[in-house]
Amino acid sequence: MIPLFFATQLLTNSIQFTIEVSVNSFAQKFNVSGQQDFAGVEFPLALVNSKKDALLPEILSKLALHRDELLKQLSTHGAILFRGFPLVTAEDFDQFISAFDLPNFTYSESLSNAVRTNRTEKVFTANEAPASVSIFLHHEMAQTPVYPAKLFFFCEQAANSGGATPLCRSDILLDRLKELDPEFVSLCEGLGVRYSNTMPELDDAESGQGRSWHSTLSAESKEAAEFKLQELGYAWEWLGSGDLRVTSPILPAVKDFANGRKVFFNQLIAAFRGWKDSRNEKSRAITFGDGSEISLKSMTSVIALSDELSFDLPWQAGDVALVDNYLVMHGRRPYEGQRRVLASLVAGR
Ligand code: FE2
Repeated sequence: MIPLFFATQLLTNSIQFTIEVSVNSFAQKFNVSGQQDFAGVEFPLALVNSKKDALLPEILSKLALHRDELLKQLSTHGAILFRGFPLVTAEDFDQFISAFDLPNFTYSESLSNAVRTNRTEKVFTANEAPASVSIFLHHEMAQTPVYPAKLFFFCEQAANSGGATPLCRSDILLDRLKELDPEFVSLCEGLGVRYSNTMPELDDAESGQGRSWHSTLSAESKEAAEFKLQELGYAWEWLGSGDLRVTSPILPAVKDFANGRKVFFNQLIAAFRGWKDSRNEKSRAITFGDGSEISLKSMTSVIALSDELSFDLPWQAGDVALVDNYLVMHGRRPYEGQRRVLASLVAGR
């Protein structure tokens, strides 16, 4: 008779073994430079195509077959890098995403601040801000009441230099922050946060926050914009220039993830470091939910921790990254040359 503890261990080991073996039927783990390790869990999980002669349809059927295992691995690791698969175009990427059979979260319906262009129904350009602009770590659309559950990225063309996508595990960040600044974490949990930004009347591709209010709110008129804002619980102010300044309802800064794990789910770092353009000032971008100021000292600790915990995804053409938007923050490093990284969002939990 096997004691219960060992029986459970054997079962757990055999499940892990099954997952490794079956994914290995078309992909193998590999080490990518800068990969992190949290208590034996790689971040990100990196998989390379082990069927080099396979055409895309065969890969797609393997992906569909192993979808559940891959999604389970995603919730453990937070992000998966797929390298060496036969993907060249936005259409190939669209098919890769479709193999996962997940609900699409459309850019047009989102309240994203970024200017983007659709390439297929599901696929659009990632933030089109100029190459010299850093996009700091954030959970996608966590500054709004509606956000995607997962993100797919695809590298159509890698930059000549720079242009990595930094990724950071938010649960690990929160654990470390609790040790470093427990008071700040309890303020975040107790008060939540509010975000303010000014949207232009017309798209401004020079800014990472340049999406017009017409496009953001799917509104042709000021009345339609106000209706939408009221529905979502926003406060607003029309500025003389035709710009619209909005303040979000109170949104969580810390969220439950799963199995008692919590995540630092917000856009504090991005707002604090980078929401700056001709209309926006960083100092006016975020407050706690009661309107009180977030201290510079606390934000400095968060930023230092996030830099320490970040993994820079070094893109190669054809790479796909699947990111759990609840567990992992992402950003974009500045770059030189042409860089085309496409994205697609997944709705749900
Ligand atoms: Fe983003």
